[in-house]
Amino acid sequence: MKIISVVGARPNFMKVAPIHKAFKKVSNLDSSISHLICHTGQHYDEKMSKVFFDDLELPKPDFYLGVGSGSHAEQTARVMIEFEKILLQEKPDLVLVVGDVNSTIACTLTAAKLHIKTVHVEAGLRSFDMKMPEEVNRVLTDRISDYLFVTEKSGLQNLKNEGVGDNKVFFVGNVMIDSLVHYLPKVDQSNILDQFDIANQGFVLVTLHRPSNVDEPTQLKKLFAVLNELAEKRKVIFPIHPRTKNNLDKFNLIDTLHKNIILTDPIGYIDFIALIKNAELIMTDSGGIQEESTFLGTQCITLRDSTERPITVEVGTNQLLGNNLELAKERALEILDGKIKKGSIPELWDGSAAKRIVEILLKNIN
Ligand code: UD1
Repeated sequence: MKIISVVGARPNFMKVAPIHKAFKKVSNLDSSISHLICHTGQHYDEKMSKVFFDDLELPKPDFYLGVGSGSHAEQTARVMIEFEKILLQEKPDLVLVVGDVNSTIACTLTAAKLHIKTVHVEAGLRSFDMKMPEEVNRVLTDRISDYLFVTEKSGLQNLKNEGVGDNKVFFVGNVMIDSLVHYLPKVDQSNILDQFDIANQGFVLVTLHRPSNVDEPTQLKKLFAVLNELAEKRKVIFPIHPRTKNNLDKFNLIDTLHKNIILTDPIGYIDFIALIKNAELIMTDSGGIQEESTFLGTQCITLRDSTERPITVEVGTNQLLGNNLELAKERALEILDGKIKKGSIPELWDGSAAKRIVEILLKNIN
């Protein structure tokens, strides 16, 4: 059996790493099983891509498509054209995709048209906001996938509501948390806190990269006004995504930042998890960080109107406050005053999701 897993953008690497490790265990015992990795090149900067291969001990990808940046149509189309060549040459039995980025839908669509079975890991998540490019990618990927692996119960309900047959859907937990669990011992050895001189003090960790937050100057200014106020109280560590960096330059905002806001390049996996684990508060618009902070019990304010990961709000430490920045600021200040939201770890987020996925696939596909 030949399986090709796809990675494209930064949030994909930590999801495919545990799946690769789980397949490797079985292919060591049975050489007829081979797991190959295709990197589309959607993210290509050393700090957005290569550092994750190193940190997560992923092998060099078997195929690199080198598609790079572009409009949604250009990027998706380029992935499809290049991935089709790989599929025609390799004839895999299965294509496995993770998450919700453009590479996810592009590769699923290409495989489905060639009648190759497809697997979507992290299926069923819905923000119900079709203006988010990721929501379009999620809905379409799920619609044409043959195996749907779900991280939280809301995903089961969403797929049921959309009429997806139970026989395709499996609740297995969260592969991104598998990576987190696996690398926690290394995380505890990271010296990133010393590098920022924050080892013995509370700090706020910020990430912002959604087009809805960073592409429009008025919204970006409002967000920085909130961060400037928090910076009066704590150091604010802000590893900055290339999209956000470009916009800060374009809108001439760099000079308006408080001196306690420390902008840095994107940070590798191990060091970044160390920051999540030790932060007093995270302000973010990322999807994955909502989950990682819930697992680690770190306070998180999500600066978005909706979340496709409602379990992080229902049982975790996440608060969804994007539609009211005044309230977001108030809550943030309360947290820094010690008024925290208690949370617990969602069901099956236990470090074994990839093992379950591989077992199910091997049982179902002959
Ligand atoms: C993509 C995903 C998003 C994910 C995010 C994580 C889609 C629709 N979006 O958004 O879901 O949360 O990745 O980072 O797939 N750039 C670089 N170097 C890189 C990559 C990007 O400079 O290695 C710059 C380019 O100017 C590019 C821009 O960032 O145009 C946006 O990159 P792109 O991959 O189109 O989308 P992201 O905003 O990163």
